[in-house]
Parts: sequence; C-alpha cells; structure tokens
Amino acid sequence: MKKRIVSTLLCTAMAASLFAGCGSTAATSGSSSSSGSSSSASSAAKEESTSSASSEAATESADTQSSSAKPASGGGQTIGISMPTKSLERWNRDGSYLQDQFEKAGYKVELTYSDNKSAQQNNDIEGLIADKVDLLVVAAIDGEALSQVLNEAKDAGIPVIAYDRLIMNTDAISYYVSFDNYTVGKLQGEFVAKQLDLDNAGDKTYNIEFTAGDPADNNATFFFNGAMDVLKPYIDKGTLKVPSGQTEFDQVATAQWDTSTAMKRFQNILGSYYSDGTQLDAAVCSNDSTALGVTQAIESDYAGDNNVIITGQDGDEANLANIVDGKQTMTVYKAVANEAVVTLDLAEAMLNGEKPDDSLISKSGWDFDCSYDTSSYDNGTGVIPSYLLVPTVVTKDNMDKELVDPGYYTKDDKGYLHPVG
Ligand code: GAL
Repeated sequence: MKKRIVSTLLCTAMAASLFAGCGSTAATSGSSSSSGSSSSASSAAKEESTSSASSEAATESADTQSSSAKPASGGGQTIGISMPTKSLERWNRDGSYLQDQFEKAGYKVELTYSDNKSAQQNNDIEGLIADKVDLLVVAAIDGEALSQVLNEAKDAGIPVIAYDRLIMNTDAISYYVSFDNYTVGKLQGEFVAKQLDLDNAGDKTYNIEFTAGDPADNNATFFFNGAMDVLKPYIDKGTLKVPSGQTEFDQVATAQWDTSTAMKRFQNILGSYYSDGTQLDAAVCSNDSTALGVTQAIESDYAGDNNVIITGQDGDEANLANIVDGKQTMTVYKAVANEAVVTLDLAEAMLNGEKPDDSLISKSGWDFDCSYDTSSYDNGTGVIPSYLLVPTVVTKDNMDKELVDPGYYTKDDKGYLHPVG
C-alpha cells in the first residue's frame, strides 16, 4: 500500500493543534506546555491564522487521501513524544505531524516541549515514564544530557526512538530516525561552490564565513563537516578566503541555534573584517534560525552592496520569505511529515515485537527515499541503527515544485509561502 504523506491529510489537525499548546489533547504531560519565546508566540499566533485559513482548502482534498491511511491499530497504547522547543519553527511541525500520525493510527499521544531547557526535558521525560507510556520518541535538546533518564525508561521496559538528533551515551536507544545530516551540509557546500563557480575561478578569490549550530546537538557537527569537506579544498587552494579566520566548528558554533546569537557574532565579524570595504561573497549557515540572524547582521552592518550567498536549512517561513525577496539564497528542506511517517511505522513494528531492519523500508511502501544505515551513528555505546531520509535543496526557482506542489506549503498572492500546519 502506497502511503502518500502529503500533508493535506494532516493539515486540519495540525492547524488546530499547532501553536495552541500543541495539542496533546489526550494528555500533555507535566511542564510541557511549552514555552517558546514571546516573540515566537506572537509570530505563532499570526502563523496560526494563516495556516488554518490556508489549510481549509487543502483539507477538501484530504478525504481522497485518507482512504489510503492505515486502519487504526494503536489499541490504546500511548506514545510519549518529547520535543525540544517551540521557539524553533520546525519542531512545531514535527510535534504536530507526529501527534497526528500516531493518533490516526489509534495511539494516544503525550506530547511535551521543554523550552530548550535540558533540565526541563529530563523532567518531562520522567513524567512520561511515570505515565507509563508504551514507547518514547525523543528529540534531544542536549544529546549528552539524557542518558540517566533514558536508562530509567529502559529499566521500565519503554523502548526509545531518537528522533532527528542522536542521543549519546545510552544503550536505551533502539533506533534513530533522521535525515542524512552530513548530506545537508554537503548540499550547502556544493551549492556555494557551484554559485561561485569555484572550479573555474582561476586566480579569482572569494570571501566566505561560516555559522554552525548548537554544540549540544549531535547533528551540528555533521552539518558543519558536510559543508566544510566540500569547501576546504578551495580554502586550501586559496580560492576561498575566510577573513575572520574562523574555520573550526567551536569558533563558529551557535548555542541553541539562536538567531540573535548568530546575528551578534556576525555583526562583530562584519565590523572587524569587512568594514574597510572587503566584499563578503558567501555565508554558510547550518540552518534557517542562524541564517536569519546572519541576514539581519548583513542588512544592518554590511557596507557592501553585492548579493551575499546565504545558505540555510529547514524551510522556515521567514527564511522562505527572504528567499523570495532575494535576501537568502537557499535552504535545505527536510520533509518532516515523512520523518513522522517513518517514526510511526518503526514504532508500530517495535511495539509488535518485531526487530525492524532494512526490510521495514521495502515493506512500508513509502513514496519517498529512506535508507537504513548501520554504520554512521555511534552514540558512544555502539552504532545505533538509523533510518535516514533525504534532504532537498530549495531555492527561489524550485520552491513551488518542492514545497507547494506536494502540499507542504501554500503560496499567497504576494508569492510568499506558508507552512501547512
Ligand atoms: C537540528 C535539526 C535542524 C534544525 C536545528 C535547529 O538538530 O536537524 O533541522 O532545526 O536542529 O533546531
């Protein structure tokens, strides 16, 4: 049975739950209610109305798709879902998609958001364990800070799926579901290399700066290394120059992927290395929240008038608007709706007592690519078998095809995109 994941099926529930406390109608545990920043709350409110309006139209076609949905099989079991924060846009979508997928399959869901606070995530997971959930899906805030609480889950016989971010130093994790994180960075590096035509640069040189993610997030080094591995040969050759000299992950990392942290660091860089008129050609940013800060810094503090190439990741609404307006050049999109589907099918197999492996992919009939990886993600206790989805480069030229046509976003009459959900 083919499962078309396009989100029309999901959007009603998502629009209803997203930003309204993210649902967890069945039971939102503990301190979860979450708690993004106030600015995100206000943009959330704005977004809520946009997405519910846009989703109504989409809902009409959902009926045709719902016939292909699986019959409910959850049998009253409860899934505990622990998300990091609502202040970063994507996690709102992840939580809603996951909740919707599991509830449609007949499970109860307890969904928590932990306001990017690791101690709070520990408490939230403790609460889910106390509530005797049957399986945990966890996107870690700090991948190094959950081993104790997840060992408690293991002792209680609750299996754990690490969602999107690998959780380190615990053998309580059975599986990891994510995108190919190294490829995300590789796509960003290749994009810059192609835009600047570095292979044919001759004696020409270009200036580039890097902004990476949160050191507590295991993904962040994968993204950075993916981009750096592509671009380092050009740096070594002298075709690319890094005026700040900041080429190590630790020098360019951004705690909590925070927009204003990224902005301030970049303002300093621009003030220190570019105020004499030096041209900045490209800014590699690992994701959209950091790209937003870098774009703001360039708008406020960059003296040049060239179009700086700026990369990102996630397809956040504000960044897609910047891409439409020519202020950001690309984002790497990860279809989190599909990540939720993989998580559901994996969880069901685990709860059925199976030992899922690569055959889950052929059995599932997913209409998107996913690989089974048993070598890339060692969490310190051994390699965690991983299901890895495939990220896509999105630019102004292909955003309709990649984002609007599949139903992930709607487009308004000014040409801006709004996530469905
Ligand atoms: C990463 C995730 C990215 C981005 C970032 C900020 O772990 O893979 O998609 O969202 O966190 O939350």
